Amino acid sequence: MSGIRIGSLGLGRLGIRHAENIAGKIRNAELAALCDVDAAKLEETAGRLNVKHRFTSFEDMLRCGDVDAVVLASPSALHTGQTAAALAAGKHVFSEKPLGVTVAECREAEKAVEAHPDLVFMLGFMRRFDESYRYAHDKVAAGVIGRPVLFRSYSQDPEKFIDGAIAFAPHSGGQFLDMAVHDIDLARWFTGSEPESVYAIGGCYAHSEFARYQDGDNVSCLMKFKNDAMVFLFAGRTAPHGYNVETEIVGTRGTLRIASVPQKNLVEVLDAHGVRRECSENFLERFGTAYVNEVQEFVDCIVTGRKPAVTVYDGTRVSKIAYTCKSAFEQGKLLFF
Ligand SMILES: NC(=O)c1ccc[n+]([C@@H]2O[C@H](COP(=O)([O-])OP(=O)(O)OC[C@H]3O[C@@H](n4cnc5c(N)ncnc54)[C@H](O)[C@@H]3O)[C@@H](O)[C@H]2O)c1
Repeated sequence: MSGIRIGSLGLGRLGIRHAENIAGKIRNAELAALCDVDAAKLEETAGRLNVKHRFTSFEDMLRCGDVDAVVLASPSALHTGQTAAALAAGKHVFSEKPLGVTVAECREAEKAVEAHPDLVFMLGFMRRFDESYRYAHDKVAAGVIGRPVLFRSYSQDPEKFIDGAIAFAPHSGGQFLDMAVHDIDLARWFTGSEPESVYAIGGCYAHSEFARYQDGDNVSCLMKFKNDAMVFLFAGRTAPHGYNVETEIVGTRGTLRIASVPQKNLVEVLDAHGVRRECSENFLERFGTAYVNEVQEFVDCIVTGRKPAVTVYDGTRVSKIAYTCKSAFEQGKLLFF
């Protein structure tokens, strides 16, 4: 055996990247199996990555004796059931965010994790594994900017991917759950506190389709945290310039800004349009290294018997906060946690 044998589930936008990373970039791991209901995609990817075991049924993959751990990159509504089934089959689990699409489901996932203390469960809050976010977090933890006063974070997807976002909308849980979960996770991580109240606004400024799900194409919320920190989050689907994830933490003795210009790299283009910096295209480009780092941490935890810092309870907490934000948006009211 050349390391932890991983079976990866879901070969969509993110799942293919996880499979490629496990096949070539993760130490002490091998890509032992792949699973997707789309048999053509499964065969193409498994052939390209030289993967022996191929399944169109997750239950069949769980019965495979050559799989020690699973990576779940399936649609969000399947995560909690698949987590419980995999743990019951004795497999370690890395699940993509969100933990579940209802808080009740998240509680079921908590019970499944608690019933298997010998197995590792980790949730994919990958921004915590991005080098810039980690660097900034170390500075906040060291007290470099003093007491956090304001946490401001934006997640904007390029408008050119709007058709995919609309197709994903019926089972995404809405912008607060689908997009802002990462910002909510970061707000808790950076402030070390929990929300006390929230007010949310937004709307369908360009794409009325989201109204069908009581959602907007651009939404925002303002939260007061228990330590008095102000938290402002913005999630949008209509960025013309590209993929824009930026964060600012204002403290009593300084300010940190992470990616306030969402540039692709350090190249400046001087041409007929003027002087420009190109923007990251999508999450795979911006967080490419973070997706490797997080799965490496999962494998390292299994190998060393450690438990990941991101717990199942973080997943429930973030989902609960996201839903309260969604309720505040739907009701147009200040809500208390
Ligand atoms: N952490 C991040 O930055 C990030 C980014 C994108 C997506 N995600 C999360 O990753 C998950 C997947 O997102 P995506 O955009 O890759 O989705 P996607 O729709 O592109 O891909 C999902 C894949 O799962 C397969 N699938 C569906 N049901 C299945 C089943 N029962 N058994 C086996 N395969 C099945 C589909 O055929 C498809 O290939 C979602 O939960 C999403 O929230 C996280």
